Amino acid sequence: MIRNPDARFDESCHDSTVSQNIAWHGSKVAAADRTRLLRQEPATVWLTGLSGAGKSTIAFEVEKRLFALGHASYVLDGDNVRHGLNRDLGFSHGDRTENIRRIAELARLFNEAGLIVIAAFISPYRQDRVMAREIIGPERFIETHLCAELEVCEQRDPKGLYKKARQGAIAEFTGVTAPYEVPEDPELKIDTGRSTVEDSVSAIIKALAPRLFQAEPIAARSCGTERPYSRQIDLKTSAA
Ligand SMILES: Nc1ncnc2c1ncn2[C@@H]1O[C@H](COP(=O)(O)OP(=O)(O)OP(=O)(O)O)[C@@H](O)[C@H]1O
Ligand SMILES: [Mg+2]
Repeated sequence: MIRNPDARFDESCHDSTVSQNIAWHGSKVAAADRTRLLRQEPATVWLTGLSGAGKSTIAFEVEKRLFALGHASYVLDGDNVRHGLNRDLGFSHGDRTENIRRIAELARLFNEAGLIVIAAFISPYRQDRVMAREIIGPERFIETHLCAELEVCEQRDPKGLYKKARQGAIAEFTGVTAPYEVPEDPELKIDTGRSTVEDSVSAIIKALAPRLFQAEPIAARSCGTERPYSRQIDLKTSAA
């Protein structure tokens, strides 16, 4: 196999499960150029916490706030991903690990495309979050623990899942019949039992702020004409 010059792939190149008949094809667009185009350095905000802690609620509000600020982001949400990509996975320890591995690989690809990812997954196992950090890259991984107490989450119970779990209708439910391993040293910790949604969103945007750049003002003269920008592209040169 032709080895990828990117050191982060060394491990998978040694992985015996990776076919010997595949080669890595590098992009011709540099990460720095994507950063210039999108005016942002990509990152993954990894929201972890109990069911009902507010991961989905906050993730979509962060996405909305970033959009309003002119930044490109996308939410990878636990329930949504299980509708498609991970529809074959259940909630056993092994399936949860595979769930997180696939999400982390997906987040990594989105980050490589230049997007900011907000990942909303209970991700109860410390080792799985360590794996996600390794796959995505520690410099892009912002582990964010939404640490509302179990009692608060259970009282909210927005999907009625705690009730079902207490009745024994759901097996291996985090916080009730399956463990949640609290992050030891997350980049961000927000008590969503006390913090409002708005304040939680602001805390996350503040953590992302060093990666967000403002658009340079476009000088009127550089356009030369008031025609729409798309019409000014020289198709002969841009097709090269
Ligand atoms: N301060 C708060 N922060 C976040 N959510 C709050 C807050 N106060 C009340 N809520 C409510 O708590 C619920 C949180 O549910 P949400 O679906 O976002 O949780 P989740 O962490 O994504 O759960 P799951 O892991 O089951 O997907 C929502 O109904 C939300 O409106
Ligand atoms: Mg959710």
